[in-house]
Amino acid sequence: MSEIFAVAGTPSVQRCESCGATWPELDASATCRSCDGLLAIVQPTPTAHGAALLQRFGSRCCTHPGSEASGVWRFAELVMPTATSHVTHPEGNTPLLRRTAVQTYAGVAELWLKHEGQNPTGSFKDRGMTVAVTQAARVGARAVACASTGNTSASLASYAAHAGIPALVLVPRGQVAMGKLTQSLAYGARTLLVDGSFDDCLRLVREASAELGVYLVNSVNPWRIEGQKTIVFELLQQRGWQAPDWIALPAGNLGNTSAFGKALREAHALGLIDRVPRLLAVQAAGAAPFATAFADDFATHPTVKPETIATAIRIGDPASWDRAIRAIRETNGAVASVTDDEILDAKAVIDAAGVGCEPASAASVAGVRKLRAAGVIAPDATVVAVLTGHVLKDPGALIEYHQQRDPAPSRANRPVEIGATLAEVARVLSAPAH
Ligand code: F0G
Repeated sequence: MSEIFAVAGTPSVQRCESCGATWPELDASATCRSCDGLLAIVQPTPTAHGAALLQRFGSRCCTHPGSEASGVWRFAELVMPTATSHVTHPEGNTPLLRRTAVQTYAGVAELWLKHEGQNPTGSFKDRGMTVAVTQAARVGARAVACASTGNTSASLASYAAHAGIPALVLVPRGQVAMGKLTQSLAYGARTLLVDGSFDDCLRLVREASAELGVYLVNSVNPWRIEGQKTIVFELLQQRGWQAPDWIALPAGNLGNTSAFGKALREAHALGLIDRVPRLLAVQAAGAAPFATAFADDFATHPTVKPETIATAIRIGDPASWDRAIRAIRETNGAVASVTDDEILDAKAVIDAAGVGCEPASAASVAGVRKLRAAGVIAPDATVVAVLTGHVLKDPGALIEYHQQRDPAPSRANRPVEIGATLAEVARVLSAPAH
């Protein structure tokens, strides 16, 4: 034991694996100061051993593997109470982060980031997909299908592989971010690159599933909505069931906006929260039919030919239109649109805070900033902004922003090419960062 551990109650030490010299925990040298050998950390003997130590570890986290470890199935009573087995990775349990730089940028007193990009396939879609594919297994589906701007297809491909059910995905050719398309291929889904928009893909897959008897798992599927409700349940639980003033989210096909509305309706009806936060759904300006309709008190139902850098929400004819209207009305919510430049600027702030997200996700923070500036959101508001996808989903957008755009955006972090000399490293270090 003494070889492996140091004396109980003392700090960790750094021990040289070559000469055995020990150095204090806070010594900053990366290698042994005597012989330049590699260092290893020697921990103090823990004050508990064996079963007592296991008990201590167990008390700090979920001791039940399987469904109970899922941030979706934890809320099974409000998701799918009768399912006895689940197709789960698990998913959910995503962090609620507070970063001063992003909060200052948004301009509100308290901004929290609910990072759904930290799900198993890198987006919030996993929450709906665990439920939809569980249902597909329950009904004995011979295959599952979806249309997608990339994240739903990546998620479906993964969960279908897990369940052993063949998956068919339809995506708009040339419009899907690289990280998402490659996930779908890697997880083994039959991937169709459709010469058309997401709206064309959705029409096609709806027809195909009706004709060919394939189980459809787009967010028109009600079980997807049940799973996505848990984003709201989990963030409320993380806040001790204290409702924030606003919850902001990016909006495309409007499935998630609908799910959030339903979750808040149910949480309030069950007495889990005593007041309902206001929803802020944020669209990209080039794909903003819902924001246009909101400005008109939903008297019209426009469709558009969508165009935005945020390919995840490049949707011109959202499917969950009516139920999303209900979500906005019931929560006294708002719908905003933000330009691609506003999205990329917010994303650069979120990324540089070390959090990171894909372009569409940053629309939530850009929307909060815009409505704060417009006076719709009060300066003392508490806001939760949902980040829907991981920074690595769209490396193409990052390379374009940081390396290729001319002139460079003010937040671009251009890499610096140098020769392999210390003098050149020193020269770069002494120059200003941007
Ligand atoms: N954020 C991301 C990262 C998304 O992938 C999506 C939708 C949304 C926001 C908008 O959610 O459609 O429920 O309003 N992506 C879908 C897909 C369309 O196919 O992956 P919504």
